[in-house]
This record gives sequence, C-alpha cells and structure tokens, in this order.
Amino acid sequence: MSLASVMKSEEKLLLPTYDRHKILFEKGRGLYLWDSEGNKYLDFLSGIGVNALGHGHPRIQAALKKQAGKLIHVSNLFFHEYQAELAQKLTKISGLDRAFFCNSGTEAWEGALKLARAYARTQNNNGHKAKWRLLALEGSFHGRTFGSLATTGQKKYRQPFAPLMPGVGFVGFNDVDDLKRQFDGSVCAICLETVQGEGGIRPVSAEFLRTARELTERTGALLILDEIQCGLGRTGKYFAYQHYGIKPDVLTVAKPLAAGLPLGALLTTNRAAAGFHPGIHGTTFGGGPLACAVAVEFLDVLSGLLDHVSELGNYFHERLDNLKTRHSSIREVRGMGLMLAVDLDSADTAKAVVAQLLREGILINRTHETVLRFLPPYIIQKKHVDQVVRALDSALSQNSKPTGRAPKSSQVKIEKGNRKR
Ligand SMILES: Cc1ncc(COP(=O)(O)O)c(C=O)c1O
Repeated sequence: MSLASVMKSEEKLLLPTYDRHKILFEKGRGLYLWDSEGNKYLDFLSGIGVNALGHGHPRIQAALKKQAGKLIHVSNLFFHEYQAELAQKLTKISGLDRAFFCNSGTEAWEGALKLARAYARTQNNNGHKAKWRLLALEGSFHGRTFGSLATTGQKKYRQPFAPLMPGVGFVGFNDVDDLKRQFDGSVCAICLETVQGEGGIRPVSAEFLRTARELTERTGALLILDEIQCGLGRTGKYFAYQHYGIKPDVLTVAKPLAAGLPLGALLTTNRAAAGFHPGIHGTTFGGGPLACAVAVEFLDVLSGLLDHVSELGNYFHERLDNLKTRHSSIREVRGMGLMLAVDLDSADTAKAVVAQLLREGILINRTHETVLRFLPPYIIQKKHVDQVVRALDSALSQNSKPTGRAPKSSQVKIEKGNRKR
C-alpha cells in the first residue's frame, strides 16, 4: 500500500484526531526506521518514549514469540504466572508494595485518582475530616480520559470537554507558596509528574517535591507521582523521584514497560492499597500474559542500561548546552538523562527545525509550542548524539532569527528516494 492510498482511506474512515507527518513506516531495527519509499530515519523520539530498547530488540522479540505461542489472554478472572513476577520486580525497584496492571498511561492515572478517593474514604470512615480534593500542577499532562483531563493543567486539552470532574485545584508549577496556600485537610492527594513531559520537559524542583511530601505526610493525604513518561530508566535511574531522595505513596508507569505492547501499572504502598478491595476497580485486557511476560524481559534488559542512560544523557546535555552558547534562539536546555529539551524563542523556528531534521532523516518532536523534545532509545551511542547535534546546529542556523519566519518549505516533504540506504 502506498502512502497516498493510506492517507486517502484514513481521511475517509478515521476520526480526524491526528495531524500525522506524511510518512508511512514499514519496518524498524535498532535505532532506525524505514518508510515505504526506502528512506531511513534515526529515531530520537522512540514512539514518544515507548521504544526504549529501540526496534526489534532480540530479547524482546524472543520473549514475545515464546509467550505468543503459549498464551496471550485469559482475563483477570484467572491467574497466570507473570503478573506476580512483574509486580515483584516493579516493587523491588520502586520501594513500593503492590501493583495493579492496566493498558495505558491514562488508565493507570485514572486508577491512581480512584485509589486516592477510595483511600480517603477509609480515613473519613475512621472519623477523620472529609478528604476529597485533588491538587495538580499547572502545565501538567496526565492523559485523555475524563479523570486525567480533570487533573491536566492545560486549557487546550480541557476546554473542549468541560465541565470536567469537580474537586481539582491547580498549583503554579514549582510555586511552593501556592502549594502551601492551597493545601489543607480536605486534600486527598497531591498529583504531579516528577518531570513534566508534554508540558515542556520541566523537572519539578527539589524544594517543591519535598514540600509536597511533607504536607501529605502531615495529614495522611497521598503523594501521587506520574512517571508514565519520565519513569522506567528514562532519567538514568529506575524512577525520576529517586534523584530527589523521596518516595511517593502511589506511582504510575506505562510507555516503555512492555517495550511497545500496551501495558500500564499503578504501584502503591500497602497503606494506600487499603482503599481497594475486590470488585472496586478492574480491566478486561490489562496485565495479560503476553504484555507481562515481555515487561519482565524489558526490566531485565533495563537493569544493565541505567548507567549508559546517565552517561549518554550527560553527554547529550553538555552538547546541547554548548549549542546554546552559539544560538541565541535557544532559551533553555532542560531535562534529565535521556529526557531532554531545547526551548526556543519561537514556535515557528521550532516547527521548522523539526521539519528540517525530518527531511534529513532524524525523528524528534515539538511540544508546548516552542520546545524540541528528545526521547531517544536507551541504546544510543555518542555518534548518534553527535549526528543529531550537528543537524540541529545547521537547522538552527538556517531557521532562526534574524532570518525570522519559518521558510515556506517547513511543510514536511520527503523527496523521493533521497536518503535510500
Ligand atoms: C506524563 C504522562 N501521563 C500520562 C500520559 C497518558 O498516557 P497514554 O497516552 O498511554 O494514555 C502521558 C502520555 O504522553 C504522559 O506523558
């Protein structure tokens, strides 16, 4: 099938929710993807943080084939051997006690919000003052379902679906005074991404996270961290909160967990888990044997990669800092490990840079209008960082002020066969 025919069919048959780049991908191997015209791309986006081991990792493929031949789905009415094994690994690396498995990031987050309310109810029943409010952060992103939207602090995602779930307050990002002002005994949870992803790769400050931990401990409210994008090795530790020396009560993870298969998880302490009992929450597909068996393998491979992520993350960060000294269009370089961003002074420039890199066969993306986001697979080497930084250097020279506006050619067009390898 050609790109043109797929585009034509999709236009007629799919809901118009995506504005896709005009590329039809056919195969992936390691750090590279190939499109229907034979063009090769260096993947520095990993399917938005999912393909942490790149494409077609031999150990993932072997685990997938082995389990697909044995058992794919049984439902949560029965046992299979991998949920407990996976939970064992996740609780060991997180320091939490229990897991619930689901299918996606937003579903993990919904589970966390429900747990916060259900746990608060157990406290309320014990004669405590009613706790029901949730505090989330401005600029956050937690997913597209209603509870997730209600805690997402970005107008563009919320507004089309109002009214949303009541009882959510938004605190200014890293604004410790605002957090203290809004927090009281009616709050059942403070909810935040340790590093905001869609919001522009913004790590929460140590002071803010420490304050959130202290306030919640004081009243018995929960601290819920969303590490769907920044967790599972992305920042060079298993979890981003491990850089801060605190531990949450509830943690959500997803994206790379099953190396491309849909799988999310909600991890909690025994204390918070008291909010749930049989029948109160569930899923048909979540935590099936195929996804869980692959996730067990992913975590095994990940254990040998954390130092590499730190080393390459530091190298990449330094190279981007250096680029900043030469391009006044770079406002800031941010991030941790291999979750990095270059914040530019104009959305047009950011758009043009992403388009130019794509024409040169490098996949990155733009978030929060002006932010170039890098989420490469954990298996990159320095030479790949060098290639991307060189391409950025040239794209910024060509597309930044004083040249000003994005060139007309910023619309993505891949010339036929120009990069066949
Ligand atoms: C921090 C964070 N939370 C939640 C989500 C939602 O995950 P999903 O798209 O798997 O529902 C995302 C997705 O990008 C995310 O980055």
